[in-house]
Amino acid sequence: MSMTQDELKQAVARAAIAHVPNDCIVGVGTGSTANFFIDALAEIKSRIRGAVASSEASAKRLQGHGIEVLSLNEAGTLPVYVDGADEITRHLHMVKGGGGALTREKIVAAASRKFVCVCDASKLVDVLGKFPLPIEVIPMARSYVARELTAMGGQPKLREGFTTDNGNVILDVHGLSILNPVELETTLNNIAGVVTNGLFARRAADVLLLGTPDGVQTLV
Ligand code: A5P
Repeated sequence: MSMTQDELKQAVARAAIAHVPNDCIVGVGTGSTANFFIDALAEIKSRIRGAVASSEASAKRLQGHGIEVLSLNEAGTLPVYVDGADEITRHLHMVKGGGGALTREKIVAAASRKFVCVCDASKLVDVLGKFPLPIEVIPMARSYVARELTAMGGQPKLREGFTTDNGNVILDVHGLSILNPVELETTLNNIAGVVTNGLFARRAADVLLLGTPDGVQTLV
């Protein structure tokens, strides 16, 4: 019997539990795969101290399971951050932000010693950019940033009716073929008005747990 995409996500989410040390505060991502991880975390909640969430949605789900949610400021450096991705390469560079939580995700990832990415096999790509690259922008800079992105060869589209947890807007940039993600991440960060871009390359994942029909593969 072939596994559904949800079953693949659940399998990698369960496998990520092995990366959660005892008595720790764990960093938790956002999205459907991260939700499966939160549900798996609930089963071992007695051996962790709590979690730092990368979104209001994940915080609610954690609290719903009776897991204590701490602020990053009180938690300090985290041993591990577990999150999904929209695209990931074999170099463990990622595009994230499909769920719009990229800024808090990048902050919690930056404050964590180990980033464990959990994905079903459909997320693994040779070149990033087929998935439109999300960029969180200060609202007053929206048009300016869009012009800059167009000049770089992208086609930015405003994510209609969406406001981030930080009160900003998202431009989804189509048409980029991202051959040097580390360089592009830095370039995009230097556009005035850009809060965060969805390239996670400067701080890539350390481990990828990839859900395939043959089982969970580990890439490091
Ligand atoms: C959230 O902002 C994203 O970075 C998510 O990590 C991404 O969208 C993955 O979500 P799924 O696990 O639902 O594919």
